[in-house]
Amino acid sequence: AATLGAAAAGGNRYFGTAAASGRLGDSTYATVLDREFTMITPENEMKWDTVEPARGSFNFGPGDSIVNHAAAHGQRMRGHTLVWHSQLPGWVGSIGDAATLRGVLDNHITQEMSHYKGKIYAWDVVNEAFADDGSGRHRPSVFQNLLGDGFIEQAFRTARNVDPAAKLCYNDYSIEDWSAAKTQGVYSMVKDFKSRGVPIDCVGFQSHFGSGGAPASFRTTLANFAALGVDVQLTELDIAQAAPAAYAGAVQACLDVARCTGITVWGIRDSDSWRTGENPLLFDNNGNKKAAYTSVLNALNNA
Ligand code: G3I
Repeated sequence: AATLGAAAAGGNRYFGTAAASGRLGDSTYATVLDREFTMITPENEMKWDTVEPARGSFNFGPGDSIVNHAAAHGQRMRGHTLVWHSQLPGWVGSIGDAATLRGVLDNHITQEMSHYKGKIYAWDVVNEAFADDGSGRHRPSVFQNLLGDGFIEQAFRTARNVDPAAKLCYNDYSIEDWSAAKTQGVYSMVKDFKSRGVPIDCVGFQSHFGSGGAPASFRTTLANFAALGVDVQLTELDIAQAAPAAYAGAVQACLDVARCTGITVWGIRDSDSWRTGENPLLFDNNGNKKAAYTSVLNALNNA
């Protein structure tokens, strides 16, 4: 196949990208987006600070523009993200009691998922809730501090009730190396959720890698999570300097695991990336294919 999306589809996978609503009018950008990608994640438009900047006041315009684009071009959507400690408006952080926060959390998930019901393949229900410090524990946040560990379970249970057809994912970074304490912390949570019937369908491995690419254990990590009974996905792939071998290795880890259902890169052109100056994506600033593009396409076609 001649495009990333078509090549991935040969293995019943999707190949997606993050997209920004403000760039959809850029014809170079839109041309590559619609030629290559079969799944779209809004880079910022479905985050809490955009969607509910003031309590009970919802703004779906930016997200809608991406959803409408995807519908017009036959692309599916990953929803990103319902509950995250970052890009959280100040009014949420100022809530001082658990009962109020619990209600606000439920309402936010309910309103956002209801608005997009039937239009989202998978939601990142909770994003980046684990600490980086090697403790394997949750990171401090207003959610953690007021509601304790149970806030994640509450979010998933609420989400399932609102849109039973959407896949519900936990998404995080630095959980690709099997030996990392953070990986083990997330693994324990997913195992516990599955054993107690807490609704979780997938785990997103962000896959923001340095120039060496994925850790050697990445395939093992994906396979071990999949064995718990969840789909796994690479949700925000980018690699400093985009070495072709590093990209091919990261993609191959997914291709080697049957329940790895798709790969999303975190932007189209290097100039679209949040990693300024690292040239971590598959297309150059002019929208031309880089060497890493070819290595990824070949890996997908050879799967
Ligand atoms: O929208 C405002 C604009 O009004 C303002 O004038 C401008 C001035 O700085 O800022 C704009 O907001 C920026 C926003 O991107 C939209 O461009 C924010 O400052 C900036 O912080 C924000 O960065 C985003 C970042 O998440 C925030 O944490 C990146 O675009 C986005 O790529 C990045 O994505 C995250 C994933 O959601 C989760 N995993 C990590 C990943 C990379 O950080």
